[in-house]
Amino acid sequence: MKKFTTVADIGDLHAAVAEARKIKENRFAYKHLGENKTLLMLFFNSSLRTRLSTQKAAMNLGMNVMVLDVNQGAWKLETERGVIMDGDKAEHLLEAIPVMASYCDIIGVRSFAGLVNKEEDYTEKVLSQFIKYSGKPVFSMEAATGHPLQAFADIITIEEHKTKERPKVVLTWAPHPRALPQAVPNSFAQWSVAAGYDVVITHPRGYELSPEFTAGATIEYDRDEAFDGADFVYAKNWSAFNDADYGKILSTDRTWTVDEATMAKTDNAFFMHCLPVRRNMIVTDDVIESPRSLVIPEAANREISAQTVLKRMLETNR
Ligand code: CP
Repeated sequence: MKKFTTVADIGDLHAAVAEARKIKENRFAYKHLGENKTLLMLFFNSSLRTRLSTQKAAMNLGMNVMVLDVNQGAWKLETERGVIMDGDKAEHLLEAIPVMASYCDIIGVRSFAGLVNKEEDYTEKVLSQFIKYSGKPVFSMEAATGHPLQAFADIITIEEHKTKERPKVVLTWAPHPRALPQAVPNSFAQWSVAAGYDVVITHPRGYELSPEFTAGATIEYDRDEAFDGADFVYAKNWSAFNDADYGKILSTDRTWTVDEATMAKTDNAFFMHCLPVRRNMIVTDDVIESPRSLVIPEAANREISAQTVLKRMLETNR
């Protein structure tokens, strides 16, 4: 595996989940794979889970790990070719990438959407340059349009908890005070469809996601209808994707907060969220603290999804 940015990169998803569950049974069984190999984790944005779970996954595989917070202590990086660099950016990505690549064997990159220029975001301007110019295997630790390590962990979690072959999985928009990217819902929709689930997406009008990611899912604007009979409810905020409103907050309607009354419409569904979560905006205290909440197992499975991806990269790039 040379890159990991989308569900297509993982190949047979059921085989990947089976491999992940085997790794989970004995996560130190592959420690030899990472001997004398170095992972570089680059963060253009903040993180708690991705940082710790990916580092732990690499350590489980015997790797050395270097972490760089690009905006804290490194030179400010220019990403645009042709720019006269007379501003505050001291180094260009086109030099920084091969330099950083010379110190490591695998690179993980976190670089969020700017939510200003849709074309820039949806061409994955930063991540794609690492893939093109580093010469090393590159994986997304959440980029502008997707968060595949999170979605993979979510699918592992659903597979561990589902009681039906084809569960009804509902992705619901929920309110948030800040404009957030579409990366997590994009990937969750894409991976859930690929897993073969009955996927329903519900949101206020105007919050339609890119069809590139939602193909195969049902869009249901009536939230009660969407929640009816659901086995899993995945809550997430995202900003508008449509051209006219790209990156904007169109609604702060708190009736979309997931509470006990909305969960009562489901088939005793499990509640999911990628974290971090704003309590009593996205979900009430009662729902996130309930025995049906999977937010902690999901986060724990981030170590397993990252380890599966790193293991494959180590195996195929020796
Ligand atoms: N879910 C997730 O990616 O969490 P962090 O932003 O804390 O890494």
